[in-house]
Amino acid sequence: MTLASASGKAILFGEHAVVYGQPAIAVPLSHIRATVQIEHLDKGTTGVLIDAPDISQSYWLREADRDDPLASAVRLTLDELGVKAPFDAHLAIHSELPIASGLGSSAAVSVAVTRALSAHLMKPLEVETISKIAYAIECIHHGTPSGIDNTVVAYEKPVYFIREHQPEVLQISAPLNLVIGDTGVSMRTTIPVSLLRERWEKDPGKYGGWFEEIGEIVIEARTMLKTGSIDSLGDLMNQNQMLLEDMGLSSLELQRLISAARESGALGAKLSGAGMGGIMLALVEPDTAPIVETALRKAGAKQVFITEVDG
Ligand code: PMV
Repeated sequence: MTLASASGKAILFGEHAVVYGQPAIAVPLSHIRATVQIEHLDKGTTGVLIDAPDISQSYWLREADRDDPLASAVRLTLDELGVKAPFDAHLAIHSELPIASGLGSSAAVSVAVTRALSAHLMKPLEVETISKIAYAIECIHHGTPSGIDNTVVAYEKPVYFIREHQPEVLQISAPLNLVIGDTGVSMRTTIPVSLLRERWEKDPGKYGGWFEEIGEIVIEARTMLKTGSIDSLGDLMNQNQMLLEDMGLSSLELQRLISAARESGALGAKLSGAGMGGIMLALVEPDTAPIVETALRKAGAKQVFITEVDG
């Protein structure tokens, strides 16, 4: 039996603008994971059986559609590992990450599948290769991903990311305490991404200006993370959130949770990921975390995660 896993992720700064070439910062959420277990099949059965009970799916690889994300992760990995002969295995996939919520569930599952197959076949893969396979799956999910999700999940380190550039692993000098609230409104990434594209095409000047402002916030945040000036990071999160609101990417549910977090003592709060649903995150002092958690639950959060990120 082989077991492998991959973390979730949160974008701290720069979502959406990153699609247009601006930098963004994302961190792995090591305590919230997707897991893949590989076992030999019972005697007499052949092929790869993919089991994902969390989403009530179970099917044979040979019967899966060409663009099925789980099957594609298996196929691309087996190709990369040079497995030509028939391969028999049972893959059981589990994830603690809510789907389509901004926590990187699809990237985590892809990376866990690749890690598990590579470990099972005892053929190690480079991090870049694992990230590249997960990127191909992200493309199936949402057309034109920037690549930030697969990168942060594959590296499992905080990253400063610019599209089509080598990612910079960020040294964070003081731990970050985050409280993450899930609105429970699932939102496929393509919806806000295409909506924003339409708006940008109609008014490239205005939206381009906002993207640049976000880029400046990200650059400032990178310095603060490196120097450990956590207090001022909260303000930057609030500023980033204001720009995301201007672009129409927040929602009533997100606003409710973000206000509850700020009013209960968070240093700053913003939506994270594609927006219009999904999650928000709040930066807190360690002892404020339970207070913010309670406030988020009262304000309607369907799930709350408290997590610490370090360099
Ligand atoms: O929906 P998520 O959390 O996987 O993140 C999307 C992030 C965007 O910047 C909106 C899109 C992208 O491809 O970077």
